[in-house]
Amino acid sequence: MKKILITRRLLRSSEDKASKIFDAKFNINDELYSQEKLIKLSDGCDGILSALTDKLDAETINKLPNSVKILSNFAVGFGNIDLEAAKKRNIIVTNTPEVLTDATAEIGILLILGACRRVPEGIEAAQNSNWKWSADYLIGKQLTGTRLGILGMGRIGRKIAHIAKSLGMIVHYHNRSKLSDDKENGAIYHKDLKSFLSVSDVLSVCCPATKETTDLINKETLEYLPQGAVVTNVARGDIVNDDDLIEALNRRKVYAVGLDVYKGEPNLNPGYLKHKSAFILPHLGSASKHTRTAMADLAIDNIDEFFKDGSCKNKVN
Ligand code: DGY
Repeated sequence: MKKILITRRLLRSSEDKASKIFDAKFNINDELYSQEKLIKLSDGCDGILSALTDKLDAETINKLPNSVKILSNFAVGFGNIDLEAAKKRNIIVTNTPEVLTDATAEIGILLILGACRRVPEGIEAAQNSNWKWSADYLIGKQLTGTRLGILGMGRIGRKIAHIAKSLGMIVHYHNRSKLSDDKENGAIYHKDLKSFLSVSDVLSVCCPATKETTDLINKETLEYLPQGAVVTNVARGDIVNDDDLIEALNRRKVYAVGLDVYKGEPNLNPGYLKHKSAFILPHLGSASKHTRTAMADLAIDNIDEFFKDGSCKNKVN
């Protein structure tokens, strides 16, 4: 049996599955391992089933024991892993795409609705019984006829586009390349970021965090948005410069934000907490039993498949 370090707790059925296939080292207290502890615990292991909370940078990867051959990330995103460093050490990195598309797109739509329809203010008023219905009470932005800009038209972006279309939104997108008509499904492609942002009444950040996308939403690019735009992010915090976004909220360039992900999670920039127009969630994108089970099963299967025949369909490096 291959010896596998599983860095975070999984749902019970997934841990049961892992223990049938591997000699698995579980994290019973679901502690957040420091880089030093993770290196120490991986001693003698053939692989690591990691999570987005594990910072597997070059320094950490270089100190992993030679026995480690695979890092199977329990997430579709893999910005927490230095792919090049892993490649140099002949360590395969895998992720869990597809299985979390629907759940994450649901949260993407929730962020849009929550930010546009002033949900944080509504919840606060309802909880304090501090409200009275009136014709102009908590007027928000209706989605019908509003232009939605999807930054990154991968699986999650396309699913959000599909739902948004059914809500009457007009979908625009920016991507490295134009999609086929079939995948585009009526959405309007912008090769140029400035042209794309200038029509994004509501922006939905759905692209992966890479060197190219880090801080892509910043002081300069926020200016391209229409006055009073709404900014939402269901992808990764690293794509947004928080200080610049908070500054844009302060001066009402941005009407509201809907965020599920943050730089330096779980700590988020306190500037967001001061804004009633910030609809903020604690990284819930894939948080449903069905999806977390499917993700863990896939992360386990990726390791199993790799050690069985060397093939790995979800290899990312
Ligand atoms: C992912 O898989 O990248 C998600 O953000 C996890 O919730």
